[in-house]
Amino acid sequence: MTAVGIDAIEIWTGNLKLDLPGTFAPQKGEDPEKYTKGLGLNASSFPDSYEDIVTMGANAAHRLMDRKGLEPDDIGRIDVATESSFDNSKPVSTYVAGCLEQVYDGDFHHANKGERKFACIAGTQSLDDAYNWIRAGRNRGRSALVIATDTALYARGDAGEATQGAGAVAMLISEDPDLVELSAEQGYGSADETDFLKPNQQFPSVDGKRSVQVYLARMREALEDYESVAGDVHLDDFAYAPFHTPFPGMVRKAALLAYRHVIRNTSVEDELADDIGRQPRAEAFDTDDEYRDALRDYMDSLKETDRYQEWYAEAIDPTLSISREVGNWYTGSVHIARVSALKEALEDGRDMAGERLLVGSYGSGAQAEIHAEIVQDGWEEEIDALNVDEQLAERYDMDWADYEEIHDAHNHEMDVDVEEFTTPSEEFVFDGWGRMGERK
Ligand code: HMG
Repeated sequence: MTAVGIDAIEIWTGNLKLDLPGTFAPQKGEDPEKYTKGLGLNASSFPDSYEDIVTMGANAAHRLMDRKGLEPDDIGRIDVATESSFDNSKPVSTYVAGCLEQVYDGDFHHANKGERKFACIAGTQSLDDAYNWIRAGRNRGRSALVIATDTALYARGDAGEATQGAGAVAMLISEDPDLVELSAEQGYGSADETDFLKPNQQFPSVDGKRSVQVYLARMREALEDYESVAGDVHLDDFAYAPFHTPFPGMVRKAALLAYRHVIRNTSVEDELADDIGRQPRAEAFDTDDEYRDALRDYMDSLKETDRYQEWYAEAIDPTLSISREVGNWYTGSVHIARVSALKEALEDGRDMAGERLLVGSYGSGAQAEIHAEIVQDGWEEEIDALNVDEQLAERYDMDWADYEEIHDAHNHEMDVDVEEFTTPSEEFVFDGWGRMGERK
């Protein structure tokens, strides 16, 4: 069977930066280490006043098409995944196509366009839709363009304010991909939850602490469901495990949960038993509370073992390097975790072709999905072509007054006109609500 997966990827960050320890923490009267060590974040990306989900998505897509030498006729499908949409009827993909048509001779009239919504997991769901479309043989030799684009803004003063971010990831889904092949097996954990939602509102209503617990519960279900179709997960089989990263501290918790889950009843649990005992089994306790306490003690000990820390340093930490500098990109977040890991592998001179990734996606509301990916021969060239470091370095570093101004400017309820902090160059720029970006 021909491989189907991600052929190429491009990233577009919002052009502004908010320094969390340097600018945010002093303003909030908090210890900077709450952000750098607790949440694991150094900075967030923000859109300048001429950027929005359309321009960032179109800019990422244009870079991708340009680099791969693609014309509109090569693309049979454009799906935008976003939870920051401003139009309840017309999908954001039509605005993006309108932008791209300004710079190509052809058009995208032949392309099926849509918009996917399920909080942050929609980016991965769009990959799945593209995969299924190609596998069903409906693509007529064409590829799919999947764009995950969001401005992840919270109301000022909300606990989530420290985890904001803005950016887009464009991915080309094709047969014989150069970057990663997607597995046919997937595991899901899905339940009706109300810990994070935006019913007809721009900024989310969030029960932050509960959202962390819901993430972990759904991710555990997804892992179990994945194992029911793909067999038991052995962590040594996976070079990296990129997870949805609202902030790196969340992934620290998810990684520990996943590790505990996959080592139960294995030789790893046996080997660790002398030092930290065996995993508590629910049936051995009279009450749920006693079981939970015992589990917490076990996890605390597990976290400190050399074996766990080595695995974390190798398989998880490299997935977090971009996220630390950009914050939460919602639908794009798990896809920048994949790029972070492969970028670090490239910098370390690792040969990744044939290696496997265990990818954990998540969206509030809530659903988690686990699937595997196999890194393809062309990965080095694909990752080497990215200019992530340059993009991050070129962002304008806002002071607090700049931040308040730009946050107001992006608040749909306010009519605030803000000067541009950066000068757009060879990119699409925002041209008013509901209009496509114009290329500068
Ligand atoms: P908070 O209450 O401000 O922070 O909000 P905290 O007091 O819980 O501290 C955070 C961590 O920093 C803790 O670590 C502290 O101990 C530590 P933990 O115990 O959790 O390991 N800390 C320090 N460490 C070192 N030095 C210090 C220090 N002080 C504290 N001085 C919260 C945290 C996550 C609730 C908040 O940021 C929030 O509401 N975020 C938004 C919601 C969110 O991101 N949830 C994540 C799961 S849901 C999800 O991922 C979906 C999402 O992406 C949306 C979608 O799907 O569409 C959000």
